[in-house]
Amino acid sequence: MSSRRREILVTSALPYANGAIHIGHLVEYVQTDIWARYMRMAGHEVTYVCASDAHGTPVMLKAREEGIAPEVLVERFRAEHQRDFAAFGVAFDNYHTTHSEENRLLVEQIYQRLEAGGLIERRDVEQAYDAEAGMFLPDRFVRGTCPACGAPDQYGDSCEACGATYSPSDLLDPRSVVSGTTPVRRSSEHFFFRLAAFTDSLRAWLAGGAVGAQIAQKLEEWFAAGLRDWDISRDAPYFGFRIPGTRDKYFYVWLDAPVGYLASLRQYCGSEAGRSRGLEFERYASPASPTEMHHFIGKDIAYFHTLFWPAVLEASGFRRPTAVHVHGFLTVNGQKMSKSRGTFISAATWLEHLDPEALRYYYAFKLGSGIDDIDLNLEDFVARVNADLVGKFVNLASRCAGFISRGHGGMLAAELDDLKLYQRFVEAGESIGRWYEAREYGRAMREIMRLADQANRYIDEHKPWQLARDPAQAARVQQVCTQGLNLFRVLMIYLAPVLPLMASRAQTFLGGQPLDWADRARPLLSHPIAAYEPLMSRVETAAITRMLEHSRAAPQAAPPSGSQPAPPADGDEMITIDDFLKVELRIATVLEASEVEGADRLLRLVLDAGAGEQRTVFSGIRAGYDAAQLAGRQVILVANLQPRKMRFGISEGMVLAAADGEQLFLVGPDAPAPAGARVS
Ligand code: MSP
Ligand code: ZN
Repeated sequence: MSSRRREILVTSALPYANGAIHIGHLVEYVQTDIWARYMRMAGHEVTYVCASDAHGTPVMLKAREEGIAPEVLVERFRAEHQRDFAAFGVAFDNYHTTHSEENRLLVEQIYQRLEAGGLIERRDVEQAYDAEAGMFLPDRFVRGTCPACGAPDQYGDSCEACGATYSPSDLLDPRSVVSGTTPVRRSSEHFFFRLAAFTDSLRAWLAGGAVGAQIAQKLEEWFAAGLRDWDISRDAPYFGFRIPGTRDKYFYVWLDAPVGYLASLRQYCGSEAGRSRGLEFERYASPASPTEMHHFIGKDIAYFHTLFWPAVLEASGFRRPTAVHVHGFLTVNGQKMSKSRGTFISAATWLEHLDPEALRYYYAFKLGSGIDDIDLNLEDFVARVNADLVGKFVNLASRCAGFISRGHGGMLAAELDDLKLYQRFVEAGESIGRWYEAREYGRAMREIMRLADQANRYIDEHKPWQLARDPAQAARVQQVCTQGLNLFRVLMIYLAPVLPLMASRAQTFLGGQPLDWADRARPLLSHPIAAYEPLMSRVETAAITRMLEHSRAAPQAAPPSGSQPAPPADGDEMITIDDFLKVELRIATVLEASEVEGADRLLRLVLDAGAGEQRTVFSGIRAGYDAAQLAGRQVILVANLQPRKMRFGISEGMVLAAADGEQLFLVGPDAPAPAGARVS
């Protein structure tokens, strides 16, 4: 380990202040916290800051819905988030908000420098506008029928049914989530940051190793596609900072959000805690800074952090990030978190049922430095935590502690029984430390558990419980258990970044001696220890079951806004057999098929729905089928689908089609079943 003391600013992404922290978020905050803690234990000057991301349309609308000021909503979530983080041992040095004076000043300063540098351009943009609500609509606030597959009630930017991406104006029958009315197109002036001017300097920054290989490759694709100017303004009404010199333009939330990292640092530097550490904002923020700045983020926001943010920093005379560490997304039992399965688990719900450090350990065990998704398999979680932490690690202390406190007044022996073994444990700290720094926590955990096996083997071989039966062997018992407890202590030091709450309990147990990385080399000898209290208990499967039930029953997060029903939060929501049985399927025959003017994905089908009934259905199958060839064909009709008013007429049902990934297939009936096999 290098002995140079590095000055490191560490950040996690700023969580939106309009919803609860969940176990998906925690992947990131736990990952960052482990890194910050390790680097601190290794002797570096670490400052870990975060803040609430306060601005934007969703926060504004949610506050409206609750009839409170957005500032009040933000403060409520800020307090709730801080409480959750603290309970999970995530220890920020400072937790600010982007809706703060520090942030406003920095954002305005940055904007003025961009403007002075000729890097802001004004251009008219046409956008969906809700005339009733009097506001422009972000893509996600327009919903309607997917132009590609005809799935109803899809977002304005992409379809959850078929994965197509498009713009809100492509939706068939678009409507505003805010008022339910049909949006109109309206133009207004927007401000753009000229990102393309920074292509070369971004390339140079990346060449310095600021991101890992997988993200570097993504960036190459983005460069190859060409960088586009970035729209940094939004029209009123908007919850954010007004752009100086305008009456009704606001900075887009994503411009001021990352600036919040610096604002939080600046607030901290001016606080008593920051001043007593001698931290200076300019030393960290200036372009030639000798300090480091490390951002931890999820892969969904990599574009903002690896292109916009470094470019904006450079353009406005600030330092750029030393590194942007990107992680993947959480899945639970191999699937996206889901409300209906109960796996959309909030931090608060977890805390009611399970130990937060069990989750920290499991995440550490699963985390590497790449951007692959990480899976919380609940069965594996129970087995892993019980085997490793309870069975191997904590057990070490509980096996030895009693003999020392009962037989020796709580006093450790004056020397180690097996100095060589102890030395091997100390040396392993070199590679474990390297794994931590490289964010290869999984490897660190495996290495630590390998050592725990060795320590348990040592105790098994020396059998203190047998020695203790012979009073003449009292000194041996003390020596063997002193060895065992010292091996435990070294491992506790190695696990302290992951299990900080347990580490502080263990510190008390071990007589209050500090647990820094370097302290592992000095064994505890002739030293009193406190009575042993269980450091962790087994995870019970029943607790998991209760948590899932609780989570399933928990009230759903509010939809983006009022008047429309909430869409399922996840794309893979399960339906029950009862749901399915409500669907009435009928065999129908196409009488007539024609193209629809102005909708290049739709065909208009007139169907013979049986019993003399005719139905008109609009179907998004034009890409795969030629209207001229469909007449006479048998299809399956969903006969009891609510009729839907579309721009071209009313759609009275739906015909079934399925895709195999590439091609679209209309679903039709098989030849009639053999005689005798009739439905009842
Ligand atoms: N407010 C923005 C970040 C602004 S940073 C200047 C934001 N907030 S968020 O609350 O949606 O997400 C916060 C962080 O949690 C992001 O880095 C995001 O990638 C991460 N995660 C949110 N859900 C996640 C999972 N299901 N799994 C892993 N990480 C996830 O984005
Ligand atoms: Zn679709």
